[in-house]
Amino acid sequence: PHALYGNRKDAAGVEFGHAREREALSAGIAEQSFPMVQATALIDGKAGTGEPRQVLSPMDGRTVAGSVAEATPEEAISAIGAAGEGFKTWSRMPVEGRAAALERMADLLEENRDRLMALLAVEAGKTQADGIAEIREAVDFCRYYAVEARNLFGAGTLMPGPTGEENRYRFRGRGVFLCISPWNFPLAIFLGQVTAALVSGNAVIAKPAPQTPLVAFEAVRLLHQAGVPQDALQLVPGGPAIGAALVEDPRIAGVAFTGSTRTAQMINRALAAKDGPIVPLIAETGGINAMVVDATALPEQVTDDVVMSAFRSAGQRCSALRLLFLQDGVADRMLEMIAGAAAELRLDDPRLVSTDVGPVIDKAARDNIQTHIDRMRSEQTIRYSGEAPSGSLAGGSWIPPHIIELDKPEALEREVFGPVLHVVRYKAEKLGEVIEKIAATGYGLTLGVHSRIDTTVKQVVDRLSVGNVYVNRNTIGAVVGTQPFGGSGLSGTGPKAGGPNYLPRFALEQVISINT
Ligand code: SER
Repeated sequence: PHALYGNRKDAAGVEFGHAREREALSAGIAEQSFPMVQATALIDGKAGTGEPRQVLSPMDGRTVAGSVAEATPEEAISAIGAAGEGFKTWSRMPVEGRAAALERMADLLEENRDRLMALLAVEAGKTQADGIAEIREAVDFCRYYAVEARNLFGAGTLMPGPTGEENRYRFRGRGVFLCISPWNFPLAIFLGQVTAALVSGNAVIAKPAPQTPLVAFEAVRLLHQAGVPQDALQLVPGGPAIGAALVEDPRIAGVAFTGSTRTAQMINRALAAKDGPIVPLIAETGGINAMVVDATALPEQVTDDVVMSAFRSAGQRCSALRLLFLQDGVADRMLEMIAGAAAELRLDDPRLVSTDVGPVIDKAARDNIQTHIDRMRSEQTIRYSGEAPSGSLAGGSWIPPHIIELDKPEALEREVFGPVLHVVRYKAEKLGEVIEKIAATGYGLTLGVHSRIDTTVKQVVDRLSVGNVYVNRNTIGAVVGTQPFGGSGLSGTGPKAGGPNYLPRFALEQVISINT
């Protein structure tokens, strides 16, 4: 065990190369039937009264994953008062009770693996590899934050001071924390935010993305089962109007948001404009993430890492590779290998173990990405475009992998959140310009470098302010407690989820000075 984290258990994995394990998982997923979940708001544990709507699977546009009754505006506002009451007892509970609830939650997630994986596949289009990775990340968040909280939220630290005075420094919960989460990690990021806020002594209002309310509903029910009181955790499913009403309420003590840069900026403005306490925003947004590959890189490794970084999860990760810089001279060969590997990817029902790439989240996302590809088709060079599945999946929201060569990096004007890789060639002597162009995007989330020259790696890494840098490997799948994740600039406010300084962002600091 790592000295800092004691005996924290690793999340259970699946060995896909082992037939018995693989088949047991597939059978467990295939057993689940749909519609699976009737989600509602949960205000003090009571179901909301909104009108239910069907949640259709993005894989075929027909399979009913379940239904959701979104919170009414009145229910959303009443959740804040209810959470305020919950805060009073939850925040006073010794940290051990809160940490133990998170650890029970980790066990419950593992016990419910097959059900959650089926739901992740049907509601969010997650492949088996993505689904198991997501459950493991959620489990790791629970166990990691439990250990962190015990270290941070105990009796506090005695500070040095004069004789006759005791100075104790400690962390406490802030109050009612609002967690607004994205659809691309409807379990892991949802739970990462919620468990960090809870274990730090806050009550939580969780507002999941409107595309993925079912996984969120299941997660909240499991947290209640794990011992989080119903008043300390309220679930408020809904769209942007509900989110805005919650953000504007002066009783909200802090906001954790993961999603688009534009929405983070809107939340920031709304928080700044409202009267009442000044409260923090913890935001993690996206990136025009780049990778620089020079002529010394290992071609097979680059191919594997680029395909994984750009196309895994259908490119719907904030960490995904968007802009690949290939050094002239190796660019043609690399492009050929990457396109060849992309052509091997299988797009199919995400519940099948053989599927590599699932659908994008919904039709709006598909149309948005398709508009970008169509524009690029007339202005730039398409190097590869895959094929969407047909037959029973034809009605799904599919975007097959695309590789587009740009004449200049500025041709990519915005983050395109899907399986679309953009490639730019550069000359060795122009590496400085490449670095400037990456910096000029204003984002700072992930960065990849493939080179066997130490000075090149150092030059790229030192000159860019990016949250997560990956050298000679892929750029996705940050591991909790090992690769704390988050970026700055247009990519977020900087706190690192799954890192040792994350929980203090959810807490107040207090010093008690006693004349003894
Ligand atoms: N944390 C995820 C990753 O590292 C991104 O959202 O891929």
